[in-house]
Amino acid sequence: MKIKIAPSILSADFSRIGETVKTLEACGADLIHCDVMDGNFVPPITFGAQMVKQIRPFTKLPLDCHLMTLHPETHIEDFVKAGADIISVHVEACGKDTVNVLREIKKCGVKASAVINPETRVGEIFDCVEDADMLLVMSVHPGWGGQKFIPETLKKIEALRAFCVKSGRGEMDIEVDGGVTIENASDIKAAGANVLVAGNTVFKSSDMRGVISALRGE
Ligand code: DX5
Ligand code: ZN
Repeated sequence: MKIKIAPSILSADFSRIGETVKTLEACGADLIHCDVMDGNFVPPITFGAQMVKQIRPFTKLPLDCHLMTLHPETHIEDFVKAGADIISVHVEACGKDTVNVLREIKKCGVKASAVINPETRVGEIFDCVEDADMLLVMSVHPGWGGQKFIPETLKKIEALRAFCVKSGRGEMDIEVDGGVTIENASDIKAAGANVLVAGNTVFKSSDMRGVISALRGE
């Protein structure tokens, strides 16, 4: 499967965000991961659709919008209008409506993805396999960059990839978010994930291009 690297702009300097996104594209990023936090679903507040709209003209890469918000369904239209290409919503925020929210997102012409937190059992996302374009497994507690990868996540990724294969959706994009480093990237990919989010690992380095290709395994 194609390995895709999605740098998270959570770790970027927001005063120079346009230039930063251009640089990420030039350095080989595959997606731009945008962490939207509402101060309710998670304690911090980051940014919303307005920011996505402002970075849109700076890159052709897909904007991968990870909504860490309550009632994410109320924000879909704004993010689509702003230029989002993928919208991820948490199972913990949507509950039994998750599949319906994924369908709403797809109706708007963008890709839909469902996310689970570290404390949520992987089986909670199985219902989404049929409707989702991507599934996101959190490998840290959402809210902050720079945390340590939770090793139990690897088992969840394996179980999810096996379930996707069994369901005839073996080519599903499985994204992993939080604490991804050059050291643990091979284990994460071996477990079955093919989309790696990286915030601190990319932004703490002076060689973004080198880090992105090392994460990809080149
Ligand atoms: C955490 C965010 C992540 C975060 C990852 O709530 O969803 O996308 O930016 O940052 P690192 O790679 O530093 O753990
Ligand atoms: Zn994220």
